[in-house]
Formats: sequence, C-alpha cells, structure tokens
Amino acid sequence: MTFQSDFLWGAGSAAYQVEGAWNEDGKGASIWDAFSHSPGHIRNGETGDTAADAYHLFEADLTIIKELGLNTYRFSISWPRVLPTGRGLVNEKGLAYYDGIVNRLLALGVTPFVTLYHWDLPLALEEEGGWENRKTAEAFIEYASLIAQHFDGRVKRYITFNEPQCFLGLGYGSGIHAPGKKLSEQELVQCIHHVLLAHGGAIAAMRAASASPLEIGLASTGKLCYPVLGGATARNLEYDGRSAQQASYDATFAPEENDWTFSHTWLLDATILGRYPESFAAFRLLNDTLTESELRILREPMDFIGLNVYNGIPVDAKGNKVNKPPGFPRTALKWPVTPECMYYGLRFLYQRYGLPLIITENGQSCNDRIFLDGGVHDADRIDFLARYLQQLRRAADEGIPVNGYFHWSLTDNFEWNCGYDERFGLVYVDYATQIRIIKDSGYWYRDIIKNNGNAHNG
Ligand code: BGC
Repeated sequence: MTFQSDFLWGAGSAAYQVEGAWNEDGKGASIWDAFSHSPGHIRNGETGDTAADAYHLFEADLTIIKELGLNTYRFSISWPRVLPTGRGLVNEKGLAYYDGIVNRLLALGVTPFVTLYHWDLPLALEEEGGWENRKTAEAFIEYASLIAQHFDGRVKRYITFNEPQCFLGLGYGSGIHAPGKKLSEQELVQCIHHVLLAHGGAIAAMRAASASPLEIGLASTGKLCYPVLGGATARNLEYDGRSAQQASYDATFAPEENDWTFSHTWLLDATILGRYPESFAAFRLLNDTLTESELRILREPMDFIGLNVYNGIPVDAKGNKVNKPPGFPRTALKWPVTPECMYYGLRFLYQRYGLPLIITENGQSCNDRIFLDGGVHDADRIDFLARYLQQLRRAADEGIPVNGYFHWSLTDNFEWNCGYDERFGLVYVDYATQIRIIKDSGYWYRDIIKNNGNAHNG
C-alpha cells in the first residue's frame, strides 16, 4: 500500500503570522495586535504588524506553492479583517483579499484549505469578555456562516479552530499568549465550553449556508506517547509488545495534573464522543450542567481530525515517562525530535475516535540563514521531514485513513511570543527586504510530492 492517489500534500500559514497590514483597508484590531503592541509579551519586542507581508505579497507565495507542486494550501482567515468588530458590518476589502487568494489557488489547480480561527480574535469581542462570554460563540457562528456562504463552491475544506488547547491554555491559562489572561480552572473550562459550542454550532451553520458539501474538522494538538523498550533508548528501539502499546495509548489520553490543557482528550472526547472526560477534575462540574441541546451541539459530526504533531513522549511498558538521554536530538526551539509520535499519534487517535485524519501541521524550527552561495541549506529540516514522513507512511501502510499532510509552514513567519527568531518555513523570508528564498527542504519536499511520498519507501 502507499499514499492514496488524491493524498493532500500541502503547507500551512496563519493570518497573524504572515499577513502584516494589521490596520490596512478597514481591518479591525485583533487580540494579537493588542498583545504584541503592549511591551514585554514578545521576544525582542517584535510584532506581527508587517510579518511576512503576505497581505501584499500573496501572489509571490502562491507562485512558490505552484513551483513546489503543493496540491493544497492551508491558510487562515483573519476574522477582524472580514468583520472588524467581530460581527455585523462586513469589510468588503478584507473579503476581497481572501477572494484573491482563493481564486488564484483555484486557477493554479491548488485546493484551498481554510482555517477560520488561528487565534486572532477581534479585539472588540475580547473587550466584551472574549471566550469567557458565550456571545463570542454566537459571533463566531455568524462569521463562519458568512464565510461558508461567500466561498460556496470555491472552498470545500475547513478547519474551525486551530489548537484550542494552545490558544486557551496559553492565552487564558498561563497568559503567555494573547489575550494574556490567567484564569482559574473553572473559568478556563467555561471558555473551553464556549469554544466548543462555537465549533459545533459553526459546523451546522456552515453546512446550512453552503450548497456544496463541505469537509469540516478542527486541528488538535497535545500529548502523544509512544512506547520504548527499557530506560533511555535510541529512538528506533520501539517495543512491539501489546502491553507497552496499550500503556502508551493510556498515557496519551490520561489527564496530566500540571498540564491538563495540553491534551487531545478533552477536545476530541467532547466533540466526537460527546462528553468532557470525567478524569479531568475541572470538567466534572461542567458535565453535570450540560443540557441535551448543548451535548448535541458539541458532537455535531465532523469529517476529519486535523492533527498538529511536533513531538511526543517516550513511555515504558508501564506507561511511565522515560528520560531522554543527554544530547537527545532537538530542534532550534529545543523540541525533541521524536518521529514515532507521528505513527502512534495517528494510530491512537484513529483507534479512539474512528475518524479519518489529516496531518495539519508538522515541521521544525531551524537556525536558518543565507549561505555564502545564496542558498538556504537546511539539512536538519530535511532529515526531520524524512523521519516523520516515514512514520506517516507506516501508518498509511497499515490502513489508518490519513488523507493529507501539511508542512508547517510555507514561509518563515511570526512565531507568536518567540517573534521572528524561530524559522519554520520551507521558504526563507528576509524580513528586511521581504525577499523569499526556497530552502533546500522546499526542493526536497517538491520531489517527495512528485513521487507521492514514494521516496520514503523503506
Ligand atoms: C501553531 C502554529 C505555530 C506552530 C509552531 C502550532 O502550535 O498552530 O501557529 O507556529 O505550532 O509553534
């Protein structure tokens, strides 16, 4: 078996991370504009005001997409660019910008894959309480149906929310992301509930607003465990015993006292199994208050799970974390390189939830720079991709329905609270000139796509 012939090979971006033009052509402010403009939040005091200037340079980026042979592009719509105060009056120039992207992609034969919410909540809604306020969910549903109706027949694949675990855990829990709040667990759980009501409500509203059938999912992130044999081991020492695999499955979905927001469990249990997991203390009270109609909204059927996967946790046959040996391979952000989490993540998520999967993000930050010869030689990213794609293929070969892979990211961009120090792109951006240079990994990925992943056969 191999990757299916219509396998989606793409790369991704998010509005705030690439667009810039934060206050142009009628765009409203978002929580990330406000957060980055207030000192002390972002490394080096950087902001997304200009970012990779994709608002003006998107044509260049789409040309690169074509050159690399991607058959799909994941990008997000900035809610406040389209609805400057979050609801009501539409900013036609904002919609026109996304029309430009979608129409050009379609002309190039590239499938648009649209994220509705990649963290840039309209500031006007935050001023009414943001996700603490249930009315934000109503506004999101209005926004989602506007988009579905506007792009009817042109955009058929959507992600409602990107990583609720991150934007709620980091934005409303630890406060290191916008809007920088540090809420109590009970308050945070209310925010989660409002986001998931928005997700379910939006799916129903979008299907109603669109004459053509839509494929809608969300992008999830969180702890993924994989089994290793013995103590600190090299990465290829996987243990094939069933009990070790069961233990890593259990550890993947088990609550984590100190870091319970970074979990696939609450997001996917609630939206697919229709109930918040009782094992999380913070959800027990909420479960007692849920009405039948809320439960129905939560589990509005979706078509796929988007999995954002970067690294995982090795566990032993009892499910206990195994320490990584000194000098374990790491990315520029010091995230461990653990390709096994790709295979086990897909396998465990399919086992528990039974929905098709799409890798909606995977990649690494490197200390990329322009070499003397003018190229950007990112051998470590190529090695990372080769290893993770091998594990993706392993899952596909076993018949796990994985329908696509999006590299994160297309171009270098604004990496949230880390500013511009971290480079995740297949395409280098020189921020002083906004010149783009395709990195070695971009050309390498182009060849992988050309062979539908076959270069990784064994
Ligand atoms: C986010 C991206 C981010 C990437 C790397 C994901 O959590 O969806 O926006 O750039 O990880 O940190």
